[in-house]
Amino acid sequence: MYCTSGKTARRRVRARYRVLALGMLAALAIGTGGGSARTGGPAESPGIALTAVERAGDGPLPYLDPSLPVEKRVDDLLARMSLDDKLGQMTQPERRYVTPAEITEHRIGSVLSSGGSAPSPNTPESWADMYDGMQRAALAGPLRVPLMYGVDAVHGHNNVVGATIFPHNIGLGAARDPGLVREIGAATAREMAATGVDWNFAPCVCVVRNDRWGRTYESFGEVPGLPSAMTTMIDGLQGEKLGAGPASVLATAKHYLGDGATQGGDDRGDARISEERLREIHLPPFRAAVRRGVGSVMVSYSSWNGVKMHEHRYLITEVLKGELGFTGFVVSDYNGVDQIDGEPGFTRDEVAKAINAGIDVVMVPEQWKKFVRYLRAEVREGDVPMARIDDANRRILTKKFELGLFEKPMADRRQAAVVGGADHRALARRAVAKSQVLLKNSGDVLPLGATEDKILVAGRSADDIGRQSGGWTITWQGEPGDITPGTSILEGIREVADSDTKVEYSRDGSGIDDSFDAAIAVVGEDPYAEYHGDRTGGLGLDETDVRTIERLQAADVPVIVVLVSGRPLDVAQRLPDWDALVASWLPGTEGAGVADVLFGEIAPTGRLPVTWQADADQQPINRGDGKKPLFPFGYGLTYD
Ligand code: GLC
Repeated sequence: MYCTSGKTARRRVRARYRVLALGMLAALAIGTGGGSARTGGPAESPGIALTAVERAGDGPLPYLDPSLPVEKRVDDLLARMSLDDKLGQMTQPERRYVTPAEITEHRIGSVLSSGGSAPSPNTPESWADMYDGMQRAALAGPLRVPLMYGVDAVHGHNNVVGATIFPHNIGLGAARDPGLVREIGAATAREMAATGVDWNFAPCVCVVRNDRWGRTYESFGEVPGLPSAMTTMIDGLQGEKLGAGPASVLATAKHYLGDGATQGGDDRGDARISEERLREIHLPPFRAAVRRGVGSVMVSYSSWNGVKMHEHRYLITEVLKGELGFTGFVVSDYNGVDQIDGEPGFTRDEVAKAINAGIDVVMVPEQWKKFVRYLRAEVREGDVPMARIDDANRRILTKKFELGLFEKPMADRRQAAVVGGADHRALARRAVAKSQVLLKNSGDVLPLGATEDKILVAGRSADDIGRQSGGWTITWQGEPGDITPGTSILEGIREVADSDTKVEYSRDGSGIDDSFDAAIAVVGEDPYAEYHGDRTGGLGLDETDVRTIERLQAADVPVIVVLVSGRPLDVAQRLPDWDALVASWLPGTEGAGVADVLFGEIAPTGRLPVTWQADADQQPINRGDGKKPLFPFGYGLTYD
């Protein structure tokens, strides 16, 4: 408690007693669940329904006093919270399934937007309005505890139309530049802050081991050293100190643990590996993230040797929180608790298992009232110790205080101009160029330049912002088309090519003839996210793309293939007929970065973050496993 003089102490005690008595009456009246009188359950700290403006003595309530150490503020606030206050902090509905009034009534501690869940119109201003509305509702609660709002800003603030969309992680892994990744994190934080959003479910620090996995592109690479190095994203997002700097949002290292190790690359599948292998390959990026002070960790849907991660007390509590010393909070994945028993929906038993395993916040988009009811019952029947509830709340509140949410709860609208601004787009363009990997360049056909007077650009992915951005862009799955402002690869080529170079476009390659000096085929995958991108069969090019390239090959001109994909594709059979191959990955809105490399404005320096299979049947194929790939991990050419 706090040291005060005798007289002041007596006055404060009297004041607190009076307020406490009033609070108890108010608490019982509005059913915030206070003492055990109502239920006979284990002793619960009484609910003191204080209005935040009420003051004990002559200063602000200790938890509202920013001059006090965070630990003291947490202690004071916890002591004022009822069980229901605490359960609300552990509950995270999705925005479509909760109203501001319910946020107030149920003391909801955080809300999320699932992929693509956006206000209408989808503008930074309406995001900020939505956020502020929910925040005002949270602050209207008796203890005035601000909420956090979480999104997947996994390659820029990608749910927001007009935001800068950066290359997906696999491209950033190819760039091998942790400082650049930190800058991208900082830019993303600023664009998020402009909309109020203060919690990012990123970075994914997964180690992809089988490229059939639909989340391969969310990985920085197949060896632990790459995701570990790129945890600089956390510094960018959170700032040197959480809550400091021009913008600071809570980062999330995900998905703990071994999501990239599943059999067959099956998303949400089972990682059947030894603990030694799990620790050697998949744990290091989380150790690095914890060392950088990551604020939260998200649990994986996947299992380890048949046990669901969402009920894995050993790995969550003993390893992550104990051995690694993680002091932030652990969040479940979306409806992750439901999947523990493999049956639809969730039970009280699953809720107890998840919370007792060490999960602190449950992402329960729709059935959040049932979750609160179940968890309250589990606590009252002693299946979930009150100490576990208090530990979870301590972790959550500590981050909220550190983020400065109690002092600055509303959207920082001063940042609005940075959303999709020129500086961020220039940064993204630089990242795109650094992520390009030159895999073949026969006869030094690249870089293109003054000798090429007439170029034909072809392919489904040449003039398509949606395809070049991939999943997690405006919508969860992403989609082809002009989905958000940006520069397509074709537009970039037109911008960068010499002014006297004639650039023509033919989506399917028709119209090619010997009058052209070169043909560029920009081809690749349709956008996808998560299990929708799992590929159990071949990993070859789509037939449409094959036909486009073959059309170009009919003429006697060099054919340069630019591959826009979330993973290595099976191109070995066709590669001999191509003059050049560039792995472009999923570059995002700044397609001119691809052209910068094609025309030699920037020499290619990217190197493979994953082994490139000679045949899909080789998967999983990784550095050091003795298999003979088409291109090894780390491969990449540059210009003479
Ligand atoms: C998804 C993903 C996770 C994401 C969460 C919220 O299913 O697994 O990466 O952060 O749900 O959108």
